[in-house]
Amino acid sequence: MKSLKISLAVVTLLALSSPAWATDVKSLINEQGCFACHSVDQKMVGPSFKMVADRYRGQKGAEEMLAKKIISGGNGHWDKITGGIIMPPHPGMSMDQAKEVADWVLAIK
Ligand code: HEC
Repeated sequence: MKSLKISLAVVTLLALSSPAWATDVKSLINEQGCFACHSVDQKMVGPSFKMVADRYRGQKGAEEMLAKKIISGGNGHWDKITGGIIMPPHPGMSMDQAKEVADWVLAIK
């Protein structure tokens, strides 16, 4: 019984904290300047985050792969959309931050 109460408390906490989490990730993306090249649902310099989500959703290891790409930058995955422009590296971001952002991107529908 005790453990049931505890897990209910955890679930409630998670439910309460998720909107704050979403705002934090968004402000992080804002601060990092990602929205200069990406929008949620429209192609800009880079693919829209929705296009990225549609491409990798459900793929094993997608979160980690995208997090690495956010930190190190890269190119060649979206040439048809971007005309060969590169994604610049963001070495100031930690792996945890990048994973949070990747998670948020992958959850877009
Ligand atoms: C100067 C413009 C620019 C900025 C700033 C930028 N990106 Fe990108 N991003 C791109 C381009 C161009 C691509 C496509 C690269 C390719 O073809 O592989 C891309 C690709 C991506 C992808 C998909 C990677 C893949 O392998 O499919 C993700 C995720 C992403 N960007 C997230 C971010 C995040 C998060 C930030 C901010 C920390 C950011 N981008 C900042 C231009 C940018």
